[in-house]
Amino acid sequence: MSSFSLKIMSSSTLAIAALLLWVSMLRGSTAQLDANFYNTTCPNVLSIVQQVISNASQTDIRIGASLIRLHFHDCFVDGCDGSILLDNSSTIQTEKDAAPNVNSTRGFDVVDNIKTALENSCPGVVSCADILAIAAQESVVLAGGPSWTVLLGRRDSTTTNLTGANTDIPAPSENLTTLIAKFSAVGLDTTDLVSLSGAHTFGRAQCKNFINRLYNFSSTGSPDPSLNSTYLATLQQLCPQGGNGSVLADLDPTTPDGFDNNYYSNLESNEGLLQSDQELFSTSGAVTISIVSNFSSNQSAFFASFAQSMINMGNISPLTGSQQGEIRLDCKLVNGGSSYIYESTYDLVSSS
Ligand code: HEM
Ligand SMILES: *[C@@H]1O[C@H](CO)[C@@H](O)[C@H](O)[C@H]1NC(C)=O
Ligand SMILES: *[C@@H]1O[C@H](CO)[C@@H](O)[C@H](O)[C@H]1NC(C)=O
Ligand SMILES: *[C@@H]1O[C@H](CO)[C@@H](O)[C@H](O)[C@H]1NC(C)=O
Ligand SMILES: *[C@@H]1O[C@H](CO)[C@@H](O)[C@H](O)[C@H]1NC(C)=O
Ligand SMILES: *[C@@H]1O[C@H](CO)[C@@H](O)[C@H](O)[C@H]1NC(C)=O
Ligand SMILES: *[C@@H]1O[C@H](CO)[C@@H](O)[C@H](O)[C@H]1NC(C)=O
Ligand SMILES: *[C@@H]1O[C@H](CO)[C@@H](O)[C@H](O)[C@H]1NC(C)=O
Ligand SMILES: *[C@@H]1O[C@H](CO)[C@@H](O)[C@H](O)[C@H]1NC(C)=O
Ligand SMILES: *[C@@H]1O[C@H](CO)[C@@H](O)[C@H](O)[C@H]1NC(C)=O
Ligand SMILES: *[C@@H]1O[C@H](CO)[C@@H](O)[C@H](O)[C@H]1NC(C)=O
Ligand SMILES: *[C@@H]1O[C@H](CO)[C@@H](O)[C@H](O)[C@H]1NC(C)=O
Repeated sequence: MSSFSLKIMSSSTLAIAALLLWVSMLRGSTAQLDANFYNTTCPNVLSIVQQVISNASQTDIRIGASLIRLHFHDCFVDGCDGSILLDNSSTIQTEKDAAPNVNSTRGFDVVDNIKTALENSCPGVVSCADILAIAAQESVVLAGGPSWTVLLGRRDSTTTNLTGANTDIPAPSENLTTLIAKFSAVGLDTTDLVSLSGAHTFGRAQCKNFINRLYNFSSTGSPDPSLNSTYLATLQQLCPQGGNGSVLADLDPTTPDGFDNNYYSNLESNEGLLQSDQELFSTSGAVTISIVSNFSSNQSAFFASFAQSMINMGNISPLTGSQQGEIRLDCKLVNGGSSYIYESTYDLVSSS
């Protein structure tokens, strides 16, 4: 190599190094999530979260299902930023009142227990958004499902989006086109839709969320034709017309509390509980059918895909770096904000 070409090389190497530095400075405001984010600041974060969930599951077998759903409903509304956890206050309209959440989402008390345990060990360090991401993974493992490396470093929002919670979270009576569109709107594809719907391998749903299929489906005067007739009879008995819409059914009638691939074989037997579940398999010509068949015949394929899709979902628009968001000290409240309790205002008025 001549000294001339050596000079060219070293100057272009310098130029590339400068370019890389410049690019990395630009990206500094949108730092990536990192599995080792709490490595030095809260090394036991995973086991602390795991212990609180494990304790809660002793008296509430459903808690893991409820916790992973909180992560999903958090991430689909302006990203994974802990916004679903905020209560009403003078500045906050809680997303807990949105249609998909009201009288439905649960597990907030366990999130508070996790936060308390973390504040005792590593005060002011772990965000509520990251608590939901970790809790989702620990819940799946506890129920016999796959493990994955949870990426961390999300910060907590100081705002909520009630409108977004009403419009962006998919509804059980929506058709496959709409479900695919709502996933696509947050950067998730049809494989993510099919694998993440597999979270309905555990947990419960209320009669009011599928009764539209049982008696008069789409104003036809008949039940949803894609419902297995034996399963239909069971569901009609559980959810009579004009009955209590809050009665609970298992999302997976075969193994209600285990995390496995039976959700997909249920779909092949026309035993998906929600319309949105059964559509993945029963919509004629749909691209989702072969994915259901794959996961139904191969649990390893489901587990691998589910793990990747959970990472994808956890990556939706996180707040990172020091410029945006905060580490909430109480997951229900923006730091420095106070909870706005109607009762105390009322007491003040009535006692004066
Ligand atoms: C594809 C669109 C989806 C729709 C339309 C949907 C809808 C629903 C509905 C209506 C319920 C029952 C709520 C109730 O009756 O109170 C439910 C429960 C549940 N969902 Fe989904 N869901 C979807 C996707 C997901 C995803 C992506 C996850 C997580 C990765 C998830 C996890 C769960 C779990 C675990 C439960 C049971 C919760 C419990 O027992 O407390 N769902 N879902
Ligand atoms: C800290 O992070 C490094 C990689 O950056 C990893 O190899 C190591 O196991 C981590 N230590 C702990 C205690 O998690
Ligand atoms: C353990 O579970 C019990 C019953 O659900 C609960 O009262 C208690 O606060 C939990 N302890 C911790 C450390 O989360
Ligand atoms: C939150 O505040 C709104 C009024 O802004 C009220 O309608 C709603 O009931 C409150 N929700 C809760 C859970 O307190
Ligand atoms: C939620 O449940 C409460 C108490 O059962 C009830 O008063 C309220 O109407 C329910 N809200 C909705 C939107 O279903
Ligand atoms: C709230 O969500 C809606 C629907 O996704 C979106 O159009 C709107 O920009 C969001 N608002 C804020 C303030 O983020
Ligand atoms: C799906 O639902 C949307 C919104 O309700 C509707 O516009 C569309 O025609 C439906 N598509 C199919 C294929 O049924
Ligand atoms: C089904 O619902 C439609 C529209 O709500 C109604 O007109 C029809 O009478 C219902 N049929 C039966 C058998 O209840
Ligand atoms: C409806 O069912 C739910 C769940 O089983 C139960 O908690 C509630 O008390 C029932 N309501 C009525 C009015 O029976
Ligand atoms: C209905 O469910 C039963 C029990 O799981 C199953 O054996 C049968 O094949 C199903 N029928 C249809 C049409 O899917
Ligand atoms: C099942 O899926 C796994 C993971 O994708 C793959 O390695 C394996 O070859 C598949 N097994 C069969 C029998 O197709
Ligand atoms: C089944 O799913 C696995 C995991 O996503 C994937 O690697 C494999 O290619 C799929 N197989 C088929 C036949 O679609």
